[in-house]
Amino acid sequence: MTQTADTVTLTDNRTGKQVTLPVLHGAIGPSVIDIRKLYAETGYFTYDPGFTSTGSCESSLTYIDGDEGVLLHRGYAIDELAENSTFPEVCYLLLNGHLPNVKEKEDFESILRRHSMVHEQLTRFYSGFRRDAHPMAVLCGVTGALSAFYHDSIDIDDPYHRMISSHRLIAKIPTIAAMAYKYSTGQPFMYPRNDLSYAENFLYMTFGTPCEPFKVNPILSKAMDKIFILHADHEQNASTSTVRLAGSSGANPFACIAAGIASLWGPAHGGANEAVLKMLEEIGSVSRIPEIVRRAKDKNDNFRLMGFGHRVYKNYDPRAQVMRQTCHEVLGELGIKNEPLLDIAMELEKIALEDPYFVEKKLYPNVDFYSGIILKAMGFPTSMFTVLFAVARTVGWISQWKEMIEDPQQKIGRPRQLYQGQTKRPFIPLAQRG
Ligand code: CMC
Repeated sequence: MTQTADTVTLTDNRTGKQVTLPVLHGAIGPSVIDIRKLYAETGYFTYDPGFTSTGSCESSLTYIDGDEGVLLHRGYAIDELAENSTFPEVCYLLLNGHLPNVKEKEDFESILRRHSMVHEQLTRFYSGFRRDAHPMAVLCGVTGALSAFYHDSIDIDDPYHRMISSHRLIAKIPTIAAMAYKYSTGQPFMYPRNDLSYAENFLYMTFGTPCEPFKVNPILSKAMDKIFILHADHEQNASTSTVRLAGSSGANPFACIAAGIASLWGPAHGGANEAVLKMLEEIGSVSRIPEIVRRAKDKNDNFRLMGFGHRVYKNYDPRAQVMRQTCHEVLGELGIKNEPLLDIAMELEKIALEDPYFVEKKLYPNVDFYSGIILKAMGFPTSMFTVLFAVARTVGWISQWKEMIEDPQQKIGRPRQLYQGQTKRPFIPLAQRG
């Protein structure tokens, strides 16, 4: 391979044939080799299972420097956003590219409020689910069903339709999620209240009942808002790539977000917050940590420390730093002095950060490590943890979907493969098969 600042030239040692490929430079971060013409010019595909070295699109939304532990949304650092902003502001930022001014903020919040109710008919879907259904299954099904309700906003070529679908999704997802929780408890659904903020309203719809007034604790609604901000977007992760791939065929945005929810559910992705809490509960006491760490390091045991490691971060996940602090704030506010799970988490983190296995492999706590403890303290059952992730990530998914549709270079996503199966062989009639 030979290289200039803007090209790489590859030589096929077998045929001696050369191909020169452009190198594209982003605003920050590693440059990429543009291989779009590689197959046409050489007959080779690239091979990258898990996409560890593949950039799938151009994007201006989110930047991650995994070595330095940096996460920026539209250029703003995640810790500054979590400290100084609100979730609706971050939604506006991701969708529109800039932080809203006072009027834009008011208008946007009012739009989200006006779209927060769901069609009354949609409530009937819930009774089709078993009461013990996992709320992620319910969320996925009901969100997918939205496409049957909003025919007036699914022309993906119309910018107004794209925007109104985006607003509908961001506004309705907390209502749908809270209803999934209410359904599992047998309590009546709570209609959204437009006098509350996004996070307050979600807590009200989840924990309020029609029997008595519900007072939202400001520290808890602030924590909820922060948790939403920390999960809002994260570049081309599995669920976002799923949304983009589903959307690349021209599928409607509601169906694409349902696909994203399905992808998020897995324990290697958004399902990790639920898995972390289960793991901490299983560990049960600080004295068992050495045994757990030993298992996590054992090549013959497929147990992993949940909430540790990340495909991109090879440093402390900046979201985990904020989450850790929020965890202490929430437990303090709730007067929880002795939370054995927090003691186990802190000890586990300490040991793992010093253990050569974790140090060498650069396995640091990720966003999911502390979030479960906070959510449990706030009263959410573990099965709702990934649902909350999905509520927050909806804005990231829909902003990425919109960016993709508006990208003139957009094509249907269609990876190729390295075929290792049978080569062509004659059909064997049934009577002759052994
Ligand atoms: N515990 C023990 N060993 C680990 C862990 C872990 N949590 N994570 C990675 N490793 C080891 C792994 O065994 C491998 O070792 P070796 O090189 O000897 O084979 C090495 O570290 C690299 O792991 P990998 O699986 O090749 O890395 P990946 O980038 O494919 O996986 C990951 C990233 C997040 C799926 C993985 O670290 C993991 O399974 N973590 C636990 C689940 C988790 O917390 N997921 C939430 C991710 S953050 C939220 C989100 O974005 O959804």
